[in-house]
Amino acid sequence: MTSEVDTELWKKAAQDIDWFVEPTSVLGSRPGPNPYTWFPDGKLNTCYNCLDRHVASLGDQACLIWDSSVTNTKQVYTYRQVLDRVQTLAGVFHSYGLHKGDTVLIYMPMVPEAVFAFLACARLGVVHSAVFGGFAPKELAKRIDACKPKVVLTASCGIEPKRVIPYKPLLEEALRLANHHVPIRLLLQRERQRSLMNYAQGDRDFDQEMERIETNGKQFKGCVSVKSEDPLYVLYTSGTTGVPKGVVRTNGGHAVVLRWSIDYVFNIKRGDTIFTASDIGWAVSHSYTVYGPMLIGATTILYEGKPIASPDAGTFWRLISDYKVKTMFTAPTAVRAIAREDPHALLSKQYDLSSLTSLFLAGERSDPETLKWCQNLVHKTCTVIDNYWSTELGSPVTATCAGHLQEKTREGVRWGSAGKQVPGSRILVLKEGTLEEATEANQFGNIVLKLPLPPGAFPGLWQNEAGYKSSYFDKYPGYFDTGDAGMIDQDGFVHIMSRTDDIINVAGHRLSTGTIEQILIAHPMVAECCVVPLPDKLKGHVPLGILVLTHEGQAMEVDVLFKELVQATRRDLGAIACFEISVIVPRLPKTRSGKVLRRSIREMVDGKQVNMPATIEDEDTLYEIYDILSKRQLIPLDSPLLLKAKL
Ligand code: COA
Repeated sequence: MTSEVDTELWKKAAQDIDWFVEPTSVLGSRPGPNPYTWFPDGKLNTCYNCLDRHVASLGDQACLIWDSSVTNTKQVYTYRQVLDRVQTLAGVFHSYGLHKGDTVLIYMPMVPEAVFAFLACARLGVVHSAVFGGFAPKELAKRIDACKPKVVLTASCGIEPKRVIPYKPLLEEALRLANHHVPIRLLLQRERQRSLMNYAQGDRDFDQEMERIETNGKQFKGCVSVKSEDPLYVLYTSGTTGVPKGVVRTNGGHAVVLRWSIDYVFNIKRGDTIFTASDIGWAVSHSYTVYGPMLIGATTILYEGKPIASPDAGTFWRLISDYKVKTMFTAPTAVRAIAREDPHALLSKQYDLSSLTSLFLAGERSDPETLKWCQNLVHKTCTVIDNYWSTELGSPVTATCAGHLQEKTREGVRWGSAGKQVPGSRILVLKEGTLEEATEANQFGNIVLKLPLPPGAFPGLWQNEAGYKSSYFDKYPGYFDTGDAGMIDQDGFVHIMSRTDDIINVAGHRLSTGTIEQILIAHPMVAECCVVPLPDKLKGHVPLGILVLTHEGQAMEVDVLFKELVQATRRDLGAIACFEISVIVPRLPKTRSGKVLRRSIREMVDGKQVNMPATIEDEDTLYEIYDILSKRQLIPLDSPLLLKAKL
């Protein structure tokens, strides 16, 4: 097997990890569409690398700072204290008979116990699967059935600025819907709203269980040795068909690449402080709230609250100032929300932001306006940096590497681009629909990665080898298909422009249009529908429902129908779907074989030139939609008029 990948880079990076058994080779092989493994014969424990190995020298240093603006709580945990909590929680899990390879599902708000749970699982070789608290019971049930946990960890409630969300009833409903039986539900009681416990059904009180282990001295002090390729966690991401895909992260490559990238890309060294503002249910938080910072011995901030309204749009600036944050990582949507509330960034003037040297943005495309707004408010020695990756990849594959270029980074930044290729990943553009590389600068096409992928990238989907191949490797054999389209400019800057599949990015959250369509079609008055991403000034995109009604549906009051559809998406997917806008059309544009031409509608609402697809059954269908969307002002005023020309 030959490969041009920089094995020397990863061999060297692997030396910063403590292995129980040193790997003798960097790359190994296996069957399948991505035929590589990383550090195949190495053995390690990720929790040991995050905590135990630091305690002798960093025991009293802050490891985790929990700042909850919604409960007005601040709590600092040193490395020694985190280790203690993790050993106790691992003892709790162990007492339930959990062993290497078992799964625990974590459905938690942004509280330290969620982080302890990640690490306690890692300590035991147990696979954790965190589910974002904003998902509704149906989505949670799908994930329970997919990863079959022996334990679910949850809390009595999550706290949003506007309301308290009781988690227990959501979990109960999910467990009722799921086929898989979860014997134990470990529940953290929060003062704001406690839950009724049903011990006979398997409920266990988190605090009581921790106390039990402390009292009987059954803390789990050791760290289970796992193989490099053993799974550390599985994280579900929206699939185009509406069935979530369980992205698997393994121990060895993940530890190596995160320990390396937190330093090289994010410029975080031992003892520095990073603030990653993402929910624990997303990959960003797995990588750069929990594992990356702890692998290097840094301090990480876990923030419970929103960028605005908790209590105001100055919260992020307060956090930077209070904890002397060196690097911050957030989503462009969060910045847009702050800018909308405080356009002149007056609140930032109340705080000392001089500690901040890099502000990273990712989760969706960073528009130059947002980047510029940020850059104007931060200290002149701080650089605002876009970067690009995904749940599947686990760490940035394009960025400006703040730890490499040091203070010169701003020269390395080009707004509108997600930066240059990060060492160790090989990104390229394939001409649309071909396997031919776009060798000229600025040629638009599909963004793919050459194999092998960087060591932290996913080697598979949880118990779904067929889905792994069909979702990521069938379209461009030999490459990993990112599902994004874009180009690389003459200086090597990568520009990510749009999705090529049916995924919608709402406020940095990846959702499947297919899932929303399934919910809409379940309404008895909806005969057919399609959902496309509608550009939104704050959230990047929001879903737009395009509906064809049944005969009876046509007699129904439209406002009532729309309201019912909004309620259905909130009930079945969650409020985070942000589904609020629908239009009714007489029919959908389809190919002669009956496939809905979503892409043409997507291009239309994006304000792009729509070329009439050669395979369209009836051209008039597209003109009809164009007319309806124009009347509702859902198409940009300056849209190309190709379609109108015929009218
Ligand atoms: N649990 C339960 N419900 C949740 C939730 C959670 N963890 N997170 C969000 N929701 C709910 C919200 O309460 C809201 O419900 P509502 O419609 O009844 O008010 C709905 O989901 C939409 O939430 P959100 O998208 O957060 O919108 P918002 O208007 O409350 O806030 C922003 C707008 C911009 C402040 C917010 O979207 C934000 O912080 N975005 C950045 C997200 C991010 O970091 N993404 C990157 C992930 S890597």
